[in-house]
Amino acid sequence: MKRQLDDYRMRMGAHELVPIMIGGMGVDISSTDLALVAARLGGVGHISDAMVKTVTDRRYKTKFVKAKQKQYQYNVASEDKSAVKFDLEHLAEATRMHVEKTMARKTGNGLIFINCMEKLTMNAPKETLKVRMSSALDAGIDGITLAAGLHLGSMTLIADHPRFREAKIGIIVSSVRALQLFLKKNSRLDRNPDYVVVEGPLAGGHLGFGMDWAEYDLATIVSEIVAWMKAEGLDIPVIAAGGIFTGSDAVRFMELGASGVQVATRFTVTKECGLPDDIKQEYFKANEDDLEVNEISPTGYPMRMIKASPGIGDGIRPNCEAYGYLLDANGKCAYVTSYNRELALHPGEKRISVKDKTCLCTHMRNFDVWTVGQNGWRLKDTSRRYPDGTYQLLTAEHVFKDYQFSTDDTVALPEPEPEPETA
Ligand SMILES: Cc1cc2nc3c(=O)[nH]c(=O)nc-3n(C[C@H](O)[C@H](O)[C@H](O)COP(=O)(O)O)c2cc1C
Repeated sequence: MKRQLDDYRMRMGAHELVPIMIGGMGVDISSTDLALVAARLGGVGHISDAMVKTVTDRRYKTKFVKAKQKQYQYNVASEDKSAVKFDLEHLAEATRMHVEKTMARKTGNGLIFINCMEKLTMNAPKETLKVRMSSALDAGIDGITLAAGLHLGSMTLIADHPRFREAKIGIIVSSVRALQLFLKKNSRLDRNPDYVVVEGPLAGGHLGFGMDWAEYDLATIVSEIVAWMKAEGLDIPVIAAGGIFTGSDAVRFMELGASGVQVATRFTVTKECGLPDDIKQEYFKANEDDLEVNEISPTGYPMRMIKASPGIGDGIRPNCEAYGYLLDANGKCAYVTSYNRELALHPGEKRISVKDKTCLCTHMRNFDVWTVGQNGWRLKDTSRRYPDGTYQLLTAEHVFKDYQFSTDDTVALPEPEPEPETA
């Protein structure tokens, strides 16, 4: 009887992969280093193109954010952000740089994909998304995962790209209905997605459910999708995501007919993950009561986070002139509206609080919104605790291999390492 995830392989075109995909985690939490480990070990890693200009500024010393901030400085105090547009050349340049620098270091038989959240509407949804996807393809990315806010027309935007039929394209859905709509809308392209990530309600990041998320269950949705695909004669790998914490959890989804799993939360406490080390410790420490699903993301999707996230309730002035990734096609963002309402209610106050929405660009950029999956409170059981109460960081290889080889719902602890002096 098959009992470990390594007994399975995920076929994707000519590729035979270890069926572990590390999910995209925006703003550079799923870093290049993390994606490289997954590819080296024969699985799939993700980088993310969320706020890519900030990412290249930080990693490669570009000055994209400063340039945008300077260009729109005149608009900072204005409620109307419709003039604040992205320079598409800069956007292309930053995306190509992020992807090229990642792909140049890739080793192993695995693949590296880029997570493109379509809710990053960037004050010109179609134009910016087309540039983001095309430049990632130009720069040699193995595949694109269309996430958060799935537009039915996204694949059409790159249909004329030379790599359209060669690169892998996947979608994230949370219901059989969403999948059906997408396939129907794209049938004219004569090109189905190469994989479908089915994300359930226990995932980190934005949820594809309402505040009634607890009434849904990943196993049921995966089973429905697998059965529907079978009935339709569709052969697209289904990848289950959200709350898969052990190798045995993963095997249970393989037995339901999934071809692989997408996992993220367990990698947030690895050395390769892009979160600052002190925040990794916050992830380790969080208890079940410390997590919540709230509605403060301006995208309109519920999001799961650690309640102590500094970005919750903060009333910082919107930074759309520098960032502006969530401005919709009319230059609006729900945080800008909430902020201005509070500002009008509290004239002259130095520091206001905005409770119903958060400035997600600023706070994700600064790692002040600590999003995590529902099983985040179990991270403390995946490592060793030092006498001072901090935890030993893991290697991504250790976590990857634990998913690959563990049995009986166990989680392997890492080899003990001496406490770092700075901890
Ligand atoms: C810190 C964090 C950030 C995330 N950011 C994104 C993102 O930018 N885009 C996306 O599609 N999914 C995002 N996710 C969801 C993951 O890619 C993944 O599908 C999900 O978290 C898997 O569930 P698990 O965390 O329980 O393993 C994020 C998850 C976490 C934990």
